[in-house]
Amino acid sequence: MANVVYMNHPLIKHKITMLRNEDVGTNEFRKLVEEIAMLMGYEALADLETVEVNVKTPIEETTQPVIAGKKLAVVPILRAGLGMVSGILALVPTAKVGHIGMYRDEETHIPHEYYCKLPAQIEDRLILVVDPMLATGGSLIDAVDAIKKRGGKNIKCMCIIAAPEGVKKFTEVHPDVQLYIGCLDRCLNENAYICPGLGDAGDRIFGTK
Ligand code: PRP
Ligand code: URA
Repeated sequence: MANVVYMNHPLIKHKITMLRNEDVGTNEFRKLVEEIAMLMGYEALADLETVEVNVKTPIEETTQPVIAGKKLAVVPILRAGLGMVSGILALVPTAKVGHIGMYRDEETHIPHEYYCKLPAQIEDRLILVVDPMLATGGSLIDAVDAIKKRGGKNIKCMCIIAAPEGVKKFTEVHPDVQLYIGCLDRCLNENAYICPGLGDAGDRIFGTK
């Protein structure tokens, strides 16, 4: 599966292990999600477009690259994806932010879209979709469908923990989309939760139940 990148950095591995611990409270959980998003974003945005600008150093005037940050759109899948946005904005503060609202039906595990608002000129942007969890793959598949339907073309997705079932399904449906995975877990359980996973990412980020 050429369009999947699995993160190999020890800092990312360490922080994901911390995140799994059920004793980690809301505040620390949020901080870890933000830090992991930043570390993964560093890799995922390695080919971010740059533009040349003039800079006057104490020695001479020169032309040097800066990131064309306004061309980036970060799109969290609500709710849990919101926890990753600040980590990406720490890297690219001028990025625009879109939102896609999805929730999984607790019985069927089928995702339902309830909101979608994307930045203008979405067709010209690099779009980074963020969601901590890729379980069955349904939510991410539908989110990317929604973005493509609105004109998005250059799309990357970043998930902190994924199940093999979700990765397989996603890459079959969207082979043109680059997927960055923090850690590939073992499987899904009978409730379509990732094992060992970290539980319900949205509930852990927002302190709900
Ligand atoms: C979680 C998670 C993903 C989705 C993954 O969201 O943040 O969006 O489940 O599952 P899937 O791959 O099987 O679709 P959830 O539906 O729990 O909503 P929430 O973020 O509002 O809690
Ligand atoms: N959504 C979550 O938040 N966690 C899982 O393990 C699966 C879906």
